[in-house]
Amino acid sequence: MIETIATTPYDDQKPGTSGLRKKVPHFRQPHYAENFIQSIFDAAGSDGGETLVIGGDGRFYNREVILIAIRMAAGNGYGRVIVGQGGLLSTPAASNLIRKRGASGGIILSASHNPGGPDGDFGIKYNIANGGPAPEKITTAIFEKSKAITRYRTWTETAPDISRLGETKLGDMVVEVVDPVADYASLMEELFDFEKIRDLVASGFTLRFDAMHAVTGPYATEILQNRLGAPAGSVINGTPLEDFGGGHPDPNAVHAATLINQMMSEKAPDFGAASDGDGDRNLVMGRGIVVSPSDSLAVLAANAHLAPGYAVGIAGIARSMPTSRAADRVAEARKIGIYETPTGWKFFGTLLDAGKVTICGEESAGTGSNHVREKDGLWAVLLWLNILAERRESVKSVLESHWTEFGRTFYQRHDYEEIDSEVAGELMGSLHDRLASMAGQRFGTLVVSEADDFSYKDPVDGSIATGQGVRIVFSGGSRIVYRLSGTGTKGATLRVYIERYEKDPAKRDQNPAAALKELIDTADVIGEIKKRTGRTAPDVVT
Ligand code: G1P
Ligand code: ZN
Repeated sequence: MIETIATTPYDDQKPGTSGLRKKVPHFRQPHYAENFIQSIFDAAGSDGGETLVIGGDGRFYNREVILIAIRMAAGNGYGRVIVGQGGLLSTPAASNLIRKRGASGGIILSASHNPGGPDGDFGIKYNIANGGPAPEKITTAIFEKSKAITRYRTWTETAPDISRLGETKLGDMVVEVVDPVADYASLMEELFDFEKIRDLVASGFTLRFDAMHAVTGPYATEILQNRLGAPAGSVINGTPLEDFGGGHPDPNAVHAATLINQMMSEKAPDFGAASDGDGDRNLVMGRGIVVSPSDSLAVLAANAHLAPGYAVGIAGIARSMPTSRAADRVAEARKIGIYETPTGWKFFGTLLDAGKVTICGEESAGTGSNHVREKDGLWAVLLWLNILAERRESVKSVLESHWTEFGRTFYQRHDYEEIDSEVAGELMGSLHDRLASMAGQRFGTLVVSEADDFSYKDPVDGSIATGQGVRIVFSGGSRIVYRLSGTGTKGATLRVYIERYEKDPAKRDQNPAAALKELIDTADVIGEIKKRTGRTAPDVVT
């Protein structure tokens, strides 16, 4: 029976860069999750009988909220929910299921790369029928609904067991529990030449994939070991755990340091990779080299035609504004479109739907294509493997020949975490105030050519997003970008993105810190970071 429960609004349910993210105790306040889920249903609207996909990255509190969401879906008139067994679905696998099964949307429970556990982070995100994150107009509507909510609808009976595959019913609604891996793995087989990759692996090519005790464990084990023949042990930390084994499932220099160190040794495998909590991010490495995500996007775009799924070539590339312009040089050379969007995958959806772009990427370890509407960690790994299987070269040599052909874009992101929100606001405010007078100013050898606050008009639906980050461009094309994170759960995180293009092959083998030294110093001078925050160094450099 449908049950209507009275509730009162919370005022802080505004979705950020990627859904609503808060600490677990915050989510456990009375009706907190219910309010947000009902606001999603209210904003999404329904004619009754639709299909909804539900799954998450397996972190602490995942199962409870999945059971709540199933009952609320029944209470709100959905005809069918498709749930990953045990409540697990990687974010790209959820996106695929929404598309493949014609669902009207999906609820993905994840806080991505943020730590899990009773005091860790939790998140709820809504994806629309194209499989992608809800665009701004829907997330704004969800927030509006959440501020005015007075009741939510649920189903009296408890939800069925989600650990067993198959269909059961909750009232009139079908609850279908599916293997989280099967459909996703078939999609990967359609896109990539598994036989070629199997041959590569059989020829002695070695790989290691760190699933960081997060959701990609079962996906990577099935695909890399069972289907592609990599020996057992190639996938490490492959069992999803509620607290990710106490770790921080973020495939970056800090949290994937063990694998990065292993990859730097003489005896390292030929290929190394890692993914994040919900399986949408990727880090790719070769023996002796870490591929920066912005370079990875450029290399994948330049070589995608080597994989069967992209053999006809790619229509265009989109990258988030702070992502380096390495991909732009590929687009220019190949005479295909290049789009610069605000941060967050939700801005790629319209471009992918309209067929303007095939490959998208962000500097934050996210790459993906039109096969789903999310970034996809294992997809990036498999495309790299497919390219290596065709070219029969090392990762290092693929990267170096890319730099020879297109030049090298040195790039770093500096994160200052948990700074006081007010101080962060003032720092950005001061940058805004100085933008108009910035052009023409000189800092050492650098002269500002342009300075603005990035605004974006979606070329497909005309929607506008303003205040997306401060860009300072110097003559010669070097760039510093400042923006505040929209995914943090504590204080503010200032992200500073720094890049410089080097065309001269003789100068391309420097390390990025050295190549960017003057820009890094200038970023502090212009941003007044030390002065305002008291911080003398970033917490994380990626
Ligand atoms: C971060 C990344 C962004 C990514 C998002 C979700 O957002 O910078 O590229 O889309 O996580 O994974 P931010 O915290 O910077 O708002
Ligand atoms: Zn993620």
